[in-house]
Amino acid sequence: MTGTTTQSTDAEQLRGRIAAELRRARARTALLTEAVDEADLVRQHSPLMSPLVWDLAHVGNQEELWLVRDVGGREPVRRDIDDLYDAFKQPRRDRPTLPLLPPREARAYLLTVRDKVLDLLDRVAFTERPLVADGFAFGMIVQHEQQHDETMLATHQLRAGAPVLHAPPPPEPTARVGAEVLVPAGEFTMGTDTDPWALDNERPAHRVRLPAYVIDAAPVTNGRYREFIADGGYDDPRWWSPAGWRHRREAGLSAPMHWRRDGDGWACRRFGRWAAVRDDEPVVHVCFHEAQAYAAWAGKRLPTEAEWEKAARWDPATGRSRRYPWGDDDPTAEHANLGQRHLWPAPVGAYPAGASPLGVHQLIGDVWEWTSTPFRGHPGFTAFPYREYSEVFFGDEHRVLRGGSFGTDRAACRGTFRNWDFPIRRQIFSGFRCARDARPEEAQP
Ligand code: AVJ
Ligand code: FE
Repeated sequence: MTGTTTQSTDAEQLRGRIAAELRRARARTALLTEAVDEADLVRQHSPLMSPLVWDLAHVGNQEELWLVRDVGGREPVRRDIDDLYDAFKQPRRDRPTLPLLPPREARAYLLTVRDKVLDLLDRVAFTERPLVADGFAFGMIVQHEQQHDETMLATHQLRAGAPVLHAPPPPEPTARVGAEVLVPAGEFTMGTDTDPWALDNERPAHRVRLPAYVIDAAPVTNGRYREFIADGGYDDPRWWSPAGWRHRREAGLSAPMHWRRDGDGWACRRFGRWAAVRDDEPVVHVCFHEAQAYAAWAGKRLPTEAEWEKAARWDPATGRSRRYPWGDDDPTAEHANLGQRHLWPAPVGAYPAGASPLGVHQLIGDVWEWTSTPFRGHPGFTAFPYREYSEVFFGDEHRVLRGGSFGTDRAACRGTFRNWDFPIRRQIFSGFRCARDARPEEAQP
């Protein structure tokens, strides 16, 4: 289907899929923004985050810009609000002081835009024009809304007050997971040319050769991370990079965000509820510097982005790269803790069906995993359809995170999907796993 004009039955199927994905994203947006009252919607819960009502109208504005105006060539719904909801013109800390649409108006705006988009979806021809081929612009807008739904979930986590979000706990472990997995030396295909809704920074596919390495079979758990704390890891500059140590001191870091001492142990706050820290769950809400320091303390290092992707996608039987660790099929509830079905990471061993052929677990879902790699374009990168999605963030200031979290929707998560953030950020659902070079005797098959 890729690259050719979509034929009529395919086009009808694609329309149906797009409509379902748009609806699914909007249901999540509604849940996250209807869970709190109006005062909470317009309040800024942290200087790092927008008021929820900004995210809400921004989602509608992006949908208007790309689908109503660009794809549809229709008249603007509200040209007057474009600047208010332009993330580059309005720094987050200033957003609460802007003359934002009040919640009722924001909701009405989203409905108006969505009506026009559904009308457009009925008529659009999925021609070879890159923006519409395979429904790309619709897929991009679905992913954009789902990305903001994860951002809004992070805002909920920072919000003070009584709990308003509810979900069943993640599944219990059913498999024993080993400590580490050897990935043999050799080439693999990184990135993609064929996934129709893959974003510009995931392209193009290219061959990467890696020496043999060893990667943790699961994300680092709270239990392990507690040992690092108990061993004085936060007070020993040996484990930290110079920038990491400076940040650790200035920010007064002593444990993951949302943790507090609880007798001899630790408790953590999740969406307004305190719970005992459970040793077998992946640690979450750590910054890159904390992850890097832990890895050094453990005698290891963070994986590079290429090491993460080879562990997640390379199939030793065929030599090809899969869309996901388990194969090419879209994620289900058996594969991974995605989609806000649960509100925290699942214990290690809870998703044996999601393991890679080499036996690496929980690469997709649970926690975003920090890698050591600064965010750059793959070789041959071209910005599409706008530089502000990825390209303006390329450089040394951002590190790549991979794999998605419990807060990430499956529409915005693939074996090739790339996220990025500043190395000091930890309000996101971030954790990590470690890697190391293979010793010569290990590298021999
Ligand atoms: C890819 C998650 C870093 O939230 O800043 C949302 C996604 N881009 N609107 C972000 C995004 C534009 C982006 N991240
Ligand atoms: Fe956005």
